[in-house]
Amino acid sequence: MNPVRFTETSLRDGHQSLMATRLSTEEILPIVEKMDEAGYWALEVWGGATFDASLRFLNEDPWDRLREIRKRVKKTKLQMLLRGQNLLGYRNYADDVVEAFVRKSVENGIDIIRVFDALNDWRNLITSIKITKECGAHCQCAICYTTSEVHTLDYFTDLALKYEAMGADSICIKDMAGIIKPYDAYELVKRLKAQLKVPVELHTHSTSGTGAMAYLKAIEAGVDIVDTAISPLAEGTSQPATESLAMTLAGGPRESGMNLELLGKIATDVKVVRDKYRKNGVLNPKVMDVEPKSILYQVPGGMLSNLLSQLKTAGQEDKFEEVLREVPQVRKDLGFPPLVTPLSQMVGTQAVLNILTGQRYKMIPKEIKDYVRGAYGTPPAPISKEIQKLVIGDEAVITVRPADLLEPELPSARLAVAGLSRSEEDVLSYALFPQPALAFLQNRELPIAEATSAKEDTVPYITVTMP
Ligand code: CO
Repeated sequence: MNPVRFTETSLRDGHQSLMATRLSTEEILPIVEKMDEAGYWALEVWGGATFDASLRFLNEDPWDRLREIRKRVKKTKLQMLLRGQNLLGYRNYADDVVEAFVRKSVENGIDIIRVFDALNDWRNLITSIKITKECGAHCQCAICYTTSEVHTLDYFTDLALKYEAMGADSICIKDMAGIIKPYDAYELVKRLKAQLKVPVELHTHSTSGTGAMAYLKAIEAGVDIVDTAISPLAEGTSQPATESLAMTLAGGPRESGMNLELLGKIATDVKVVRDKYRKNGVLNPKVMDVEPKSILYQVPGGMLSNLLSQLKTAGQEDKFEEVLREVPQVRKDLGFPPLVTPLSQMVGTQAVLNILTGQRYKMIPKEIKDYVRGAYGTPPAPISKEIQKLVIGDEAVITVRPADLLEPELPSARLAVAGLSRSEEDVLSYALFPQPALAFLQNRELPIAEATSAKEDTVPYITVTMP
């Protein structure tokens, strides 16, 4: 039997899930050098929230981080997470931005692009798949795992086959909320392995306490690759621990071949960094809580804390359970979107508004209206006429690929940073995140003492005021 391969996620998802993506490039570089020797299939070190956090909170150039990592990682593949047409942001970008961004990512050192669409709408991956393949990089298509009456084994298998036909070099089951139950993971992997030619990878989180068990069952079913995080940045809302799983497999039929001694040394180094953030409070011990309710309510760990802070702001913390019960209703009304960025925050906000106003859809954020209008893609299940009317009235619903309606965006981005940009990468940073990029580029020219907006804690992108 083939060995199980590991993708190390601590330097992307690990610190994103546990400590708001605050690891700096300086802290990351000595770690990747050792990781390069440990026997990983890949290191996921870029994309997701790392790009935004670098610019917004760390006053760092994310492109520079990638290049510096690439210089030190000579044997192992570098992986990034990309939200399809949303790239690393929260809206659809025009095709010219997507094309340039994918090209520059590969040019600066990325080997594997893991790409997904929050709604599993394959049309939102057309451009990123095409360009990734053109650049000669490994294109991994991720299916967002969720459960609902439409998210059946057939649904996921058809989607995976569709992605394979579109050119995917591998398929990832992306369980962003950590809700895949071990025996369900077994069934799904078994089915995908039987029907796909390309390798299958599983990504989950330990939030609900079932992550490592899901991996073991997936491994028994023949999964090729699993995502783990080195122990100091593992478990809780992060991934199951690398060393623990490597030890579990040692001596068995699907031994991983990971260098356990070196993993121990890496863990010692990472512990020092982790302890710094534990001490200064950036790593909140709450993220390590086991939350079996995630499976019950289908709510990812990050979304639980978001809901709580929204309710706190409104002084209505006692409504927490009520809001949690409202989430599945809103999700059903909206055609069962997977609860992943940006849909998780959108659905969560709507649930909060429904409860706080005491009336469903009395207040509706702009993003929900856009969603019902089809601006994010096609929902997994149709939205009822009744809900549609309630949210957007008689407005028409878009049925084309949303990005088909967007004019090229690079020319105006180039113009906007004409005096500040030194490269195409700078222009892309601006095209994705105008304000933080502008602040970063200005600060690079005329350094001020403190990084800009360092006090903001979360990235606001839902335009709504709480009642
Ligand atoms: Co994840």
